[in-house]
Amino acid sequence: MAGRIPKPFIDDLINRSDIVEVIERRVTLKKAGKNYQACCPFHNEKTPSFSVSPDKQFYYCFGCGATGNVVSFVMEYDGLDFVEAIEDLAASAGLEIPYEKGVEQTPKVDQDFYRLMTQITKFYQQQLKHPAHGERAVNYMKNRGLTGEIARDFELGYAPDEWHSLQALFGHNTDTNKALVEIGMLIEKDSNRYDRFRDRIMFPIRDKRGRVIAFGGRVLDKGEPKYLNSPETPIFHKGQELYGLYEVRQKNRNPDWIVVVEGYMDVVSLAQFGVTNAVATLGTATSQAHIQQLFRVTKKVVFCFDGDRAGRDAALRALNQGISQIKDNRDIRFLFLPDGEDPDTYVRQFGAEAFSEKAQSAPGLFEYLMNHLTAQVDMNAFEGPGQLANLAKPFIEQIKDPIHKERFLQQLAVDVGLSEQKLALLLEVTDKPVENKAVKRSLPLTSTSQLTPVRRAITLLLHFGDMATLIKEHAWIDDLSMPGTEILVQLVEMLKNDPTMSLGSLIEHWRGDKAEPHLVKLAQEELLLPKEAITQEFLGLIEKLEKLYREQRLSELQKQAQRGRLSAEQKKEFQSLLLSLK
Ligand code: UTP
Ligand code: MN
Repeated sequence: MAGRIPKPFIDDLINRSDIVEVIERRVTLKKAGKNYQACCPFHNEKTPSFSVSPDKQFYYCFGCGATGNVVSFVMEYDGLDFVEAIEDLAASAGLEIPYEKGVEQTPKVDQDFYRLMTQITKFYQQQLKHPAHGERAVNYMKNRGLTGEIARDFELGYAPDEWHSLQALFGHNTDTNKALVEIGMLIEKDSNRYDRFRDRIMFPIRDKRGRVIAFGGRVLDKGEPKYLNSPETPIFHKGQELYGLYEVRQKNRNPDWIVVVEGYMDVVSLAQFGVTNAVATLGTATSQAHIQQLFRVTKKVVFCFDGDRAGRDAALRALNQGISQIKDNRDIRFLFLPDGEDPDTYVRQFGAEAFSEKAQSAPGLFEYLMNHLTAQVDMNAFEGPGQLANLAKPFIEQIKDPIHKERFLQQLAVDVGLSEQKLALLLEVTDKPVENKAVKRSLPLTSTSQLTPVRRAITLLLHFGDMATLIKEHAWIDDLSMPGTEILVQLVEMLKNDPTMSLGSLIEHWRGDKAEPHLVKLAQEELLLPKEAITQEFLGLIEKLEKLYREQRLSELQKQAQRGRLSAEQKKEFQSLLLSLK
């Protein structure tokens, strides 16, 4: 886990990064007027509707609505989380991140680790052509029905049946040897070092950026363990990596669905038959991090398990991790294969189409959950419905999305034979009503054509930040009780501090905030008016808002005057307000 990245560093990084340059490294852009255009990398299209503005440091797709600043682009395009995107941008800009010291310190990751892994991957691949033992390994792969092409795509290789092949490759330089121990490729025991992987078919595990970070190795004959995996190392964290995700994204950056299978061989074999959207957890249970990553790339995740007891247990664990992440149009499904089959054997027997069809039409999370729960109780018994409700309770509590929660409660109420309200009351699972105050503070979403003065002012400032310097005094904005004023104040403050801040830098401050989607929407307003007209409009808006503020203040003082007394100072304020509002 990394230490925190200081906010000022992020600001600085965004200021220094040029969104056009960053996108251009991934997508071919064409100049069109002030902006750049391309076919949108986030949806399929033939005519370009993706536009990048160098002035605003912002991108927008008129086709699918994808939009954001340079950080959002890297997150979306490379499938990275926020910290990873910042790290990526910092590396491209040649900046070192001054991580804040905290409880969690980043272990120093040596760039050499990745270089060594690349060399080892090549070495294992070359072993397949080795005159003495290559044939045995190649025969094993052929017997398992793998083609040379798929072996190349996944960079499969062979670790020779030797104790010191890596030291023979890299020499006995102590630093390199130490690094090899750290990345789990050499085992150190009583001052001896030897190869961890011997006589195994090697599956390189790549991270989201395509760097090899670990291996899984399968025995060729019988032997224990069947699969040996790299241990946890500074560059490999099992609970966060998915085998095959990089390869999936090479084919399609945002597939409609992704299937999560159990084995390396399943992923490779599915890909060979054309199911190029399969990933595997690495011999571990599905984690929250896994699911988060998948939903960054796709909307639909199908977990595929063996039909046996172990498979059912694994499915339940995945359900427990996934239920809290269900929201909007996210979809989680559970596919169980017939006994004795795994995806590898299934696809070979029935083909890609049969597998894909089965996967996409598998029962959804809530259907599966309901089946799982009802199977545990006798619904005809007097206690049945009550037991069902109680079994469901811990699951309902984990559903964060109000709509899905409501729908599941509805379904459960029908099955239990109670009204929904009664059921919710009995289980104490509904949320308390939201307080009014919180509602006032957030920016309601309405179409941009009917903007309130606050929202219009925010929009203008997002696009022409230097106008903030025209506001002399702005503390009153915060006291104005209208939705969005806290955002306007923050914007004004930031821009007075640095009037050159781009739209892309500004918007970064609301990442993850509930106001973010609304701001992003305002940011999309195309402002084609000449700057002069905009300035006039902006000043008009501020004047209007200030007047509203004075009216609000006046009525506050009036109320106070009715209830009791006004101080001398308040009286003075009252009079001057009266005068100014005439
Ligand atoms: P399976 O035992 O189901 O094997 O393990 P498989 O994937 O069908 O492999 P083949 O077809 O026999 O080659 C599923 C996954 O569990 C992990 C591996 O990630 C494997 O792909 N596993 C299994 C281990 O890590 N170690 C083991 O000893 C066995
Ligand atoms: Mn198998």
